[in-house]
Amino acid sequence: MLKFKLEATCNKTKARAGVIETPHGKIETPVFMPVGTRATVKAMAPFELKAIGAQIILSNTYHLYLRPGADVVAEAGGLHNFMGWDRPILTDSGGFQVFSLSTLREITDDGVLFQSHLDGTRHFMTPEKATLVQEQLGSDIAMCFDECVPYPCSPENSYKAVERTIAWAERCKKAHKRSDQSLFGIVQGSVYPEQRIYCASELKKMDFPGYAIGGLSVGEPHEKMYQMLDVLSEELPHEKPRYLMGVGYPLNLLEGVARGVDMFDCVLPTRNGRNGTVFTYSGRINLKNKAYERDFSPIDPNCNCYACRNFSKAYIRHLYRSGEILASRLCTWHNLHFLVDLMSKARIAILEGSFEDFKRRFEDNFNDEGG
Ligand code: GUN
Ligand code: ZN
Repeated sequence: MLKFKLEATCNKTKARAGVIETPHGKIETPVFMPVGTRATVKAMAPFELKAIGAQIILSNTYHLYLRPGADVVAEAGGLHNFMGWDRPILTDSGGFQVFSLSTLREITDDGVLFQSHLDGTRHFMTPEKATLVQEQLGSDIAMCFDECVPYPCSPENSYKAVERTIAWAERCKKAHKRSDQSLFGIVQGSVYPEQRIYCASELKKMDFPGYAIGGLSVGEPHEKMYQMLDVLSEELPHEKPRYLMGVGYPLNLLEGVARGVDMFDCVLPTRNGRNGTVFTYSGRINLKNKAYERDFSPIDPNCNCYACRNFSKAYIRHLYRSGEILASRLCTWHNLHFLVDLMSKARIAILEGSFEDFKRRFEDNFNDEGG
């Protein structure tokens, strides 16, 4: 059900500009997907996400399965209806959350026994169940149930997770029935190039409509992540979209784009926004800092988001100090706009043949140690 058209590729890097067609509309790539874990992008109403230019959002199987329950969402007419968002939605499978959030995890080849982080109830998640739940949610893009290992991880343990991820991908594909939903495979393999290549080549045989790169941005050095992307940029099929999971730090996004990644998601802009940390083209700053007490300029003079067009750093700092919820909303608004806009500028640069210059200019101006 999903079509992907490549429109341009950079001749100096591996960057690509494309269009993904889904039942809920087109997505121009490269794209940043805001995270709406619990069927809401925290602090933002859907019409506001549209004003920012968000083309697709991500939601989480793990959370919605536990609350309100996939049957409730299905009864509401699916996730789009339930949350009032009519553009594309991607759901993550729970393969990551079940490992990072739940307690009492017992993993077998059959699935994962876990205890809910909400009420301690026990659940058994399998590839089949994760697929069924995503069909009930009715997302445009669903993800295979995978095993994401922490960093660092021994080659032996990573290899076991790779074998399991491959076997589970096969089971997800077999269980997947909805023709209006596309199921993506997820490549694991920690920081081991041979394992990444092996996992990608096995998933490629299953002919998924798109491929995600998982198990990165989990604490490994950036160079390791880039090395894995370099290896996979050759191994993954060029005519299918590639999605780097959980990456949203601006410099990492551009390095990902330069290595052929088309889609990204991360909680960073929304989470940072709620604590007063904002991205600018000069780097990352925290508005709670006293330095901004009398700074009546916008967060970023180069940004034309609602927050930057109408408010000063001093005002938003005041809102934070006063515990006003508008502070979180404005910073989330700006941060999401910043990343959505960064990807759209990268896309234009790829189409115009100036991506490498664009990337270098961004890196020269962006002074930030973080990430
Ligand atoms: N989100 C970030 N990393 C991962 C991953 O490896 N697997 C899944 N399913 N989701 C993720
Ligand atoms: Zn702004």
